[in-house]
Amino acid sequence: MNVKSELLSTLAEANGEFISGAALAEKLGVSRNAVWKAVKSLEAEGFSITSVTSKGYKLNHDNNILSENLISPYLNTRKIGKVLKVFGTVDSTNNIARELETEKSPHGTAVVADRQTAGRGRIGRKFESPSGTGLYVSILVRPHFDLSFAPMITAAAACAAAEAVETFCGNHVMIKWVNDLYMNGKKICGILTEASLGLEMRVLDCAVIGIGINVRSIKDCFDSELKKKATSIEDETGLVINRNRLCAELLNKLEVYLGMIEDRSFLIKYREREMLTGNIITANIGTEAIIGEALGIDDNANLIVRLPSGEIRELSSGEANLCRIKA
Ligand code: BTN
Repeated sequence: MNVKSELLSTLAEANGEFISGAALAEKLGVSRNAVWKAVKSLEAEGFSITSVTSKGYKLNHDNNILSENLISPYLNTRKIGKVLKVFGTVDSTNNIARELETEKSPHGTAVVADRQTAGRGRIGRKFESPSGTGLYVSILVRPHFDLSFAPMITAAAACAAAEAVETFCGNHVMIKWVNDLYMNGKKICGILTEASLGLEMRVLDCAVIGIGINVRSIKDCFDSELKKKATSIEDETGLVINRNRLCAELLNKLEVYLGMIEDRSFLIKYREREMLTGNIITANIGTEAIIGEALGIDDNANLIVRLPSGEIRELSSGEANLCRIKA
């Protein structure tokens, strides 16, 4: 690590406390003048640092630049995020993660970006990804699960994302089957998982879990149609959450929840948060549109729906929406 990176990590670890120039110089093994120069250079890159003659330097909480040095100190994972690549602008973090997959990057490699020019949503949709507002992260996983567990990766990731968001704000986060997170009835997060099968087709070779969370206000960057359905944590709570800290927490929770897939224990948490259950829903399954009552989530994370005819369907994919809340 160079002086600047090490300085940034040290300031991040201090959690908003001041550290004197002398202490920093000693820790980094450089002169106080070198510390000062590195601080100026970080400020020129946009990092918000307060310098007070008698106290030293501190990294301000309102800093909104994503950086590996500001995420890594908060990771308590064994594998997830241990290889961490942070970018300014990319087309799609899922694309970068898939490229890294072909380059044999290890299980847990995480790709984070400030902005995506071609962020992808499910069913071929675009995912709006403006700079400075969202957390766009893709995680490459090589789980070697039996294929039957593959659909559960997204559901487990949704639990992880919901818990990570709740760590920073009091608001309850709900999951709309299968992968959307909702706050106060509007979407704050979407997840797109793209999987590759092993040659023998029975094991899941690897998957890229792409998670997009609207963190800072989206009022000035989403169009009015999108704002009817989507919101951000800041717009709902007034809280300005540090994206680096949220990213670390997301990766921490993801490691825990990925470990809960094979024994299906994550389903308890998933069911507690799932918001369609008990309500009348509409769903599009391929070209078929159905309406029915959502009865719950089965042990394979399928949505169980009772059609007006009484027929029971287990939906494994597709999109479902709340039609009306059952009286
Ligand atoms: C959806 O809501 O339909 C899923 C949205 C998934 C968006 C995330 S942002 C990070 C990753 N990169 C992408 O291009 N998509 C996912």
